[in-house]
Amino acid sequence: MTRVLIVENNQPLLTSTAESLRAEGFEVHTAVSEAEALKILSQHLIHLAMVDIRLRDDQDENDDSGIKLCRKIGSSVARIVLTGARDWHLVRDALDPTDTHEPDAEAYLHKSESTETWLREIRRVLAAHYEVLPDRRIAILTSGGDAPGMNAAIWAALRSALTNNIEIDGIHDGYRGLIDGRIEKLKWLSVLDALTTGGTLLGSARCKEFHQEGPRTIGAQHLIDRHVDGLILIGGDGSMNGALALAKTVKKLGSDLQTIALPGTIDNDLFGTDMSIGAASAVTAIMHEINNMVAPARALRRIFVCEIMGRNSGFLTLEAGLCIGAEAMLLPEELIVVPDDKLEAGDWQDQVRINRTREALMCRLEEVSKRLENEFAAGKRHAFILFAEGIRLLTKDQITLQFVADTLSDYLKDWTSAQKPDVRPQVIGYPTRGVPPSRSDVHLGTLLGAAAVEALLAGDSERMLGWSEAEGRVVKTPFAEVVARSNRPPSVKYRDSWRATVELQKKLITPPAAFGQPK
Ligand code: F6P
Repeated sequence: MTRVLIVENNQPLLTSTAESLRAEGFEVHTAVSEAEALKILSQHLIHLAMVDIRLRDDQDENDDSGIKLCRKIGSSVARIVLTGARDWHLVRDALDPTDTHEPDAEAYLHKSESTETWLREIRRVLAAHYEVLPDRRIAILTSGGDAPGMNAAIWAALRSALTNNIEIDGIHDGYRGLIDGRIEKLKWLSVLDALTTGGTLLGSARCKEFHQEGPRTIGAQHLIDRHVDGLILIGGDGSMNGALALAKTVKKLGSDLQTIALPGTIDNDLFGTDMSIGAASAVTAIMHEINNMVAPARALRRIFVCEIMGRNSGFLTLEAGLCIGAEAMLLPEELIVVPDDKLEAGDWQDQVRINRTREALMCRLEEVSKRLENEFAAGKRHAFILFAEGIRLLTKDQITLQFVADTLSDYLKDWTSAQKPDVRPQVIGYPTRGVPPSRSDVHLGTLLGAAAVEALLAGDSERMLGWSEAEGRVVKTPFAEVVARSNRPPSVKYRDSWRATVELQKKLITPPAAFGQPK
């Protein structure tokens, strides 16, 4: 049912207008003041606000409170101003957009016009303003590092929302844009071409300010003002913490907000999903970057040591290394040393034993250099060693890419063969994130984007949706569990599930003992 709010302090006019609209099947709410109007707007999803404005001419006195109210209501609600002014130039000038704000209303009606004219205009405005007349309004944002496939998730959430008569607001630049109130209704065509493009069409941010109650309250109020009662966020565990805090703030302000998260990060470091949106594309991107380095490596007999993104997780390094047949993958999961009795500590990241980690890494590099010596003597011309940035991050920059390259070069000095390769460090950075999504990320984004809307409709909240390969279905995990179990020390994950893969890879790249020996 179409819900109309009439704001008019001429009581007889208010009553007669409300009656004629009710007779036409509209649900009508009435208000005589701005405060009353704003309260109704936060309590009901109003489709059309009809606001009395006063403009100085011989019939009317000047009073810009009506215009100001229209501006506060904003363009998420269709607005018609009611006027008694005879001179339509005055009305047009009052409603005109300026550089700083958009038009304050979609149309105006003269109070003396017939009911038929009013109804015709109301229907025209509603048809122009809404692609579907919404039963509810939700919002969507992307937060943290962009990831290929986020746009597919936005695409699917929007299409699925509109199909279910839900309007969906896009929040620009994550929680930053929520604080600033940069929110815009998404339309069916807003996501045209989005399905297969990389990055995020909404923009993203890493917003520290959102940890504070003050800015968060401002953001929460923007959602309440627009009558948003559900939020889909696409990002990592930090974004889920933001959503949990936001829902609490909204509650304090007297409203409710359902929150659903989708795992969107190339790092694939979240508990509750086998793959996060973007991770598969990032692996392929790294493969392509490294493939493009093979020619110079082979031409000049080089060993490239490549730093790979992934934050604390070695997932990208492991997967990309397997796919390109890297000679070694240096993973936080294998090399970072945290004493066993500190593994459960909340501050385990401060418990990393840097010297012991350095020793473990040097041991590994020595073993790699010995293994490569025979192969280079037998004619091998290039090699790739992948170094996960997590080792650098977790050792607070005490073990760097340059350190790895220099250490390996030192071990090469002991080679007996005369023709030693050069060792070159190379950071494989943002191109990892910037690629268009792979087939699997388009699928995952689409599946989870649509599932997010279903979850909101089913009344779920504070759940991250993920994909379980074993179960072949979307699974829901409470935010609290995702946050608690995603931040485990890398070695725990390694022991649980990665060791076998790493051992197999080492076996397959190690030549037999007799390799290169005289027969
Ligand atoms: O989380 C995604 C990621 O690309 C990490 O792999 C990397 O450590 C980080 O973001 C880089 O962040 P920023 O783009 O803010 O420099």
